[in-house]
Amino acid sequence: MQDKKPAPDQTWEEKSVGRRKTAYETVSKDDAPNQMLISLAGIRPGDAVLDLASGTGEPAISIALHVGGEGRVMATDMTPAMLETARQRARRLDLGHITFDVCRMEALPFEDRTFDAVTCRFGIMHVSDPLAALTEARRVLKPGKKAAFMVHGPPQSNTLWTIVHEVAPRVLHIDDSKKVERHFKFSEGDELAELFRAAGFDTVGDESLRRTVVTPDGGPFWNELLTRDYGKLIDALSETAQSDLAAEMASAFREYRKGGAYELLTAQRFITGTAV
Ligand SMILES: C[S@@+](CC[C@H](N)C(=O)[O-])C[C@H]1O[C@@H](n2cnc3c(N)ncnc32)[C@H](O)[C@@H]1O
Repeated sequence: MQDKKPAPDQTWEEKSVGRRKTAYETVSKDDAPNQMLISLAGIRPGDAVLDLASGTGEPAISIALHVGGEGRVMATDMTPAMLETARQRARRLDLGHITFDVCRMEALPFEDRTFDAVTCRFGIMHVSDPLAALTEARRVLKPGKKAAFMVHGPPQSNTLWTIVHEVAPRVLHIDDSKKVERHFKFSEGDELAELFRAAGFDTVGDESLRRTVVTPDGGPFWNELLTRDYGKLIDALSETAQSDLAAEMASAFREYRKGGAYELLTAQRFITGTAV
């Protein structure tokens, strides 16, 4: 049996190339999770909102549209190239009330009690000191205002991501378990809610959004995620090995095919807290 090599660990700067290619040009085309974040954070037109780990602009662009020209959004991320894609989206939408700042969420360059809401989507699981990040989020919130952090729901409720990250490492003979563990950190259990309490948040809440996404059978819809996460390794495979991988993928998704479409589960979890 061949030993599995650890999957190459890409930096966020390197990942930003693939993320730029898969980012929406302007508005989000899958906005339900962003709207739930906006609602749970209690964001209203005219608010000043801080978004952490904005990446290519999710949910910062949706928040900017929601708060309108009377409000403002500060979109932050530690990776300049990620924020550059977000900036281009904002420019195409003519959103003048969103600004961008390169910073780490564990050390925010903002005054105490500045914002009406703090949001973060799929960022907190990547931070080595999440308590420091949450303590900073609470510090910059005005008293009585909310933070809402979105993380992934459990693996069995996220079919596309889970299958791609099961099949590809197996065929590529790599061990990508660290990425899987990090991706689903906080998807179950009380750890993140406890960290909110430890950071000084009050009235900590825990909500979920679970959906079935119906994808018409129009070809290998999993290729975008597959090439984003494993493209370089796949390019190095022989043609035969690439065909084997394609066949394994198709076979793994077959059981989700109902009629002329695939029905896949997707789930996000939202932990919220109020600053005191
Ligand atoms: C999975 S992406 C999520 C981006 C975006 N929020 C979304 O939902 O598409 C994670 C982002 O977290 C950023 N990031 C990782 N660690 C960070 C930290 N300590 N402080 C700020 N940003 C961080 C990365 O640069 C990356 O853009």
